[in-house]
Amino acid sequence: MLATVADAALRGRSVLTVVDLSPSEIGTVLGLAGHLKSARAADQLPLLRGKTLGMLFEKPSLRTRVSFEVGMTQLGGHALIAHGSDFMVGSRESPEDAARVLSRYVDAIVVRTHAHEPLRRFATAATVPVINGLSAAAHPCQALADLLTIKDRFDTLAGLRLAYVGDSRNNVAASLAEAALMSGISVTFGCPPTHRPSEAFLTHLQQLGKPHGATVRAFTSAIRAVRDVDVVYTDIWTSMGEEHLAERNAAALLPYRVTAELMATAARHALFMHCLPAHREQEVASEVIDGPQSVVFDQAENRLHVQKALLVALLTDLRGIPTQ
Ligand code: CP
Ligand code: NVA
Repeated sequence: MLATVADAALRGRSVLTVVDLSPSEIGTVLGLAGHLKSARAADQLPLLRGKTLGMLFEKPSLRTRVSFEVGMTQLGGHALIAHGSDFMVGSRESPEDAARVLSRYVDAIVVRTHAHEPLRRFATAATVPVINGLSAAAHPCQALADLLTIKDRFDTLAGLRLAYVGDSRNNVAASLAEAALMSGISVTFGCPPTHRPSEAFLTHLQQLGKPHGATVRAFTSAIRAVRDVDVVYTDIWTSMGEEHLAERNAAALLPYRVTAELMATAARHALFMHCLPAHREQEVASEVIDGPQSVVFDQAENRLHVQKALLVALLTDLRGIPTQ
């Protein structure tokens, strides 16, 4: 199906968290990503011809940085990167001034940063779309790629069940849970009380899932969280910028390692997912991440397709482009 007027409403918007998109806009981005995944290279080249994407990274990245740059090249545009020493949100100049300056040079901006609030100020002042390439609070591009991966495997999203095991307060867990619940996937967290989402965030998640018949619960037992689910997801125990907590996290999260025994309590067809980078034998056993249930490299590939879709949706009116 070709894009509708509602799809065109994405043009010019920023995406800092998953909830900056409506459930139907998430559907549009996934549909467009599916189309771009199989479209001929020559047909994609004109889509963002002459457009420039600025990428500002205060933290290391392999997948996000490379997939955005390759995506812009495949769409006929260009990407440039500034690293931490050249650019720190709010340190050398205010986030507002940096955003206003960059908006005069580039057509869209991807930012990977620490605290979420300066990013919000940056995006409010920018006059071009700003995409969160990971902050301490959210990783929306990862969550969209994860939905695409699940949809590719199960052919549907609504009605599935996903367990997130480990640090359930981090950016990946937050965005994944939002995206899943908005798509009708029920979510369970398996985590100790120290790493449990706040009650306020659990209430927010509950409200997101309600219209779609999806529920959310947090368990201290990993086995209870994972029982019979369709997807088991984990991430590193210590996120970037929180290295001082590494020892404490490792001790608290050891019982939440995803092992073959834990996977055996999920549904037989269950997928294992991880945003990468992974630490084998810490949050996940090698035999799981390198085993037949693992789709971690499909997730990494889908970052490219979904981010291309997001860029096209934010930078064009999608006229004549299939979105389903
Ligand atoms: N998953 C992810 O965002 O990877 P990078 O940190 O390598 O970008
Ligand atoms: N939670 C991790 C994700 C890395 C892609 C971090 O923030 O470091």
